[in-house]
Amino acid sequence: MTSEADPLTLVLVGPMAAGKTSVGRRVARRLGVGFIDTDRRVAAEHGPIPEIFAEHGEEHFRALERAAVAAALQEGGVVSLGGGAVTDAGTRALLRAHPVVFLTVTDEAVAERITGGGRPLLEGDDPLERWKRIFEERRGWYDEVADVTFDTSRRPMQRIADDIATWRREHA
Ligand code: S3P
Repeated sequence: MTSEADPLTLVLVGPMAAGKTSVGRRVARRLGVGFIDTDRRVAAEHGPIPEIFAEHGEEHFRALERAAVAAALQEGGVVSLGGGAVTDAGTRALLRAHPVVFLTVTDEAVAERITGGGRPLLEGDDPLERWKRIFEERRGWYDEVADVTFDTSRRPMQRIADDIATWRREHA
């Protein structure tokens, strides 16, 4: 758990709509470090994520994502990954050198967070069923990369962020 970049570098992983971006931004503010959302970086450089999936497929997206994760970890600070980043062995290897927080969320709580669209893997009849299946498929990878787990289902994002910032300072 060492970082060559910012000494308070921290990575957030977890399923879609677990709150990685909103919690991550708040943790960064608390720690006084920068914040990077790798989905945003990929979209800024290569265009909207649904278009990347539609035109080039998931494998291509994972390669772009891996490059974005590598660059973000070089910069340091709080880095929030997309939900499927952990499916890529290269990305998982990059995470080994950093403290990783796994954000979980219950089915009930996520149901109202995934209504917005923009997530190609949830497109179709029953987004919640898809979300559950995908989370189950990936749970082992989240557990593999994570150093600690926080649940975002019930408490305000700011309180969760405060707890994560405290955990990070204690593990500096
Ligand atoms: C994905 C999650 C998305 C985004 C892409 C693929 C996934 O990020 O990276 O749509 O495979 O779970 P969020 O977790 O921020 O929704």
